Amino acid sequence: MTPPPRIRVLFDETAIARRNEELAQEVAKQKPENLLVVAVLKGSFMFAADLIRALHRAGLEPQVEFVHLSSYLDGTVSSGQVAILRDVESDVRGRDILLVDDILESGRTVAFAKDLLMARGAKRVLTAVLLEKPHKRAVTIDAEFVGFTCPDVFVVGYGMDVAHSYRQLPYVGVIDHMDTEPHLFDEQ
Ligand code: IMP
Ligand code: MG
Repeated sequence: MTPPPRIRVLFDETAIARRNEELAQEVAKQKPENLLVVAVLKGSFMFAADLIRALHRAGLEPQVEFVHLSSYLDGTVSSGQVAILRDVESDVRGRDILLVDDILESGRTVAFAKDLLMARGAKRVLTAVLLEKPHKRAVTIDAEFVGFTCPDVFVVGYGMDVAHSYRQLPYVGVIDHMDTEPHLFDEQ
C-alpha cells in the first residue's frame, strides 16, 4: 500500500516491529515483578498492543490497563495541565508498572502519569515511549525505554493522529507541508 498523499514514511513497519522486540527484551532484563502495563490513550494504543505481545514473547506475563489523558493546549503551546479522561481500574500498590506512551515531548504527560502512579503506591514506574523528541522537554523526565529518537516534526500514524485522522497507518509518517495547527485540544 502506498502512503496517503503528503505522508512520508519515517519509521516503517519492519523497523518498528524489530525495535519492539528489542524493547521487550530490555524490559525483561529489569526483571519486573507483578507487572502492570499502563497504556496512555489514545496515541499509544497500537504501540502498546504490539509491545505487550513482544513482552509475552520475552517471557513476561503483564496485566494491562489504560489511562486516557489529555493535555490542554493554548494555541500550539501546552498549558502544562493534564486531565484524566479515564482512569485505571486496577490497584497499583506495590506493583511494577510499565507506563507506555507514544511520544515523549515536553514530558508533561509522562511526568503526570508517573507521579500519579507513584502517589498511589506503585513500587516502580518504568516508562516506554515509541518516540522521543529530545529538544522539546519542559520538565525533567526520561523514559527508560525509547523506540526511536524523532526529529522535531509533527508525526502521525501507528496510533498517532492529526485531527483524529491517520491513526490507522501501520507506520510512523510525517505530513509534508503541514500548514494547519495540529489541534487545540490534544486528545493524546
Ligand atoms: P508531552 O510530552 O506532554 O508534551 O506530550 C506529548 C504528547 O503530545 C504525545 O503523547 C502525543 O499525544 C502528543 N504529540 C506530541 N507530538 C506529536 C506529534 O508529532 N504527533 C502526534 N501527537 C503528538
Ligand atoms: Mg499521547
